Amino acid sequence: MSHAAVRTQVGIIGAGPAGLFLAHLLHRQGIECVVLESRSREAVEGTIRAGVLEQWTVDLMQDLGLGERMQREGHFHRGITLRFAGESHHLDFEDLTGGKRVTVYPQHEVLKDLIAARLAHGGEIHFGVRDVGLHDLTTDRPRITYTTQDGEPQTLHCDFIAGYDGSQGPSRQYVEGRSEYQHLYPFGWLGILVEAPPSHHELIYARHARGFALLSTRSPEIQRLYLQCRPTDTMADYPDELIWSELHQRLETADGWTLTEGRIFQKGVIGMRSFVCDRMQHGRLFIGGDAAHIVPPTGAKGLNLAVADAVYLSRGLECFYRTGQQDELDRYTDTCLRRIWKAERFSWYMTNLLHTNPAEGPFEQRIRLADLDYVVHSRAAATALAENYVGLPLD
Ligand code: FAD
Ligand code: DHB
Repeated sequence: MSHAAVRTQVGIIGAGPAGLFLAHLLHRQGIECVVLESRSREAVEGTIRAGVLEQWTVDLMQDLGLGERMQREGHFHRGITLRFAGESHHLDFEDLTGGKRVTVYPQHEVLKDLIAARLAHGGEIHFGVRDVGLHDLTTDRPRITYTTQDGEPQTLHCDFIAGYDGSQGPSRQYVEGRSEYQHLYPFGWLGILVEAPPSHHELIYARHARGFALLSTRSPEIQRLYLQCRPTDTMADYPDELIWSELHQRLETADGWTLTEGRIFQKGVIGMRSFVCDRMQHGRLFIGGDAAHIVPPTGAKGLNLAVADAVYLSRGLECFYRTGQQDELDRYTDTCLRRIWKAERFSWYMTNLLHTNPAEGPFEQRIRLADLDYVVHSRAAATALAENYVGLPLD
């Protein structure tokens, strides 16, 4: 079999939010790139995940000319509702943050828009690649070897490599001298997709003695709901009747609000962990997104944090190609980590605030309720939560 070779400026591994945003940012700066993705286009576009976009992520999509469908089909929320002790409290983010909103536009819709626009402009995304290997990372001519979808061995010669290949991808293993921080939670989420109209016009996060529950949306016809479960639970532990019974108990309030039921057409258990890799570069390899850090989903930060890494890397690369200076690239890890640790803190805080932890006693439960009560009655505390939720500004 012949061993073909091609060349580009930046080789990107992974067509998730991090890799695809990076491809668009580089294209805008006139920097060439090739994206290598192990899954098929159908699989990438068909994996239904989170839906909450921070304000600056929405602004970036608009800036890149990718916001048209999001403006049409996304849901724009002024704030969120916190429910606890049988009461509902609205946090008005638009008021608290000087006009910032929450946009619910699912990740797979973002990816469809990014992929279509990149391919329409002649961008290269190779789906279905296998056996990705990284080489010569500490030289100025790193290489990626891989097998194409058609089984052909291939080499991509680059100036730089972005290892944006998610939590299970190979790139992180190539970062020498890294330390990894991890925190595990003694619970998980059971997520369901339901055919039903929205029960409420905004997201509801509920803390209840029986555990956390979250009401979110996907479209006018499809709703997304989550229920705190044990990390070892499986779908078999949750027949539909039990799911509805738990959701009603955890979400309903004394004021007569009720949850609209519908046909559950997808169920899954999601694990919860916090993870940070404290070195995100090695020679000419830069890692980012889920390859470098994981947050529990409660703060809705995963996608947004991945895109922030791509913005910082694109700035460093733009500076390098314009001036030949590598300082900004050298600072990539430090710049990213400042934002990452704040998002880790916020996601950990929201998770502990809203879940019932079997390892905690009645004292800690009362402390959590006092914290919630403080958040909904103090403008300062509500503002702190709001500015983190809508997204801290990019450095
Ligand atoms: P990814 O989206 O994982 O993209 C990485 C890409 O790299 C993938 O397409 C993968 O196929 C590809 N890849 C992997 N290995 C290779 C290889 N060897 N060669 C080439 N390509 C490779 N966040 C929230 O905020 N709320 C949620 O509800 C939520 N739900 C989630 C549910 C699940 C099941 C998962 C896994 C994540 C969820 N997240 C959620 C997190 C959020 O989706 C991620 O933070 C976000 O996708 C990170 O983007 P990324 O580009 O870094 O990684
Ligand atoms: C969704 C997921 C989250 O983790 C979250 O905090 C809010 C919404 C969602 O899937 O829509």
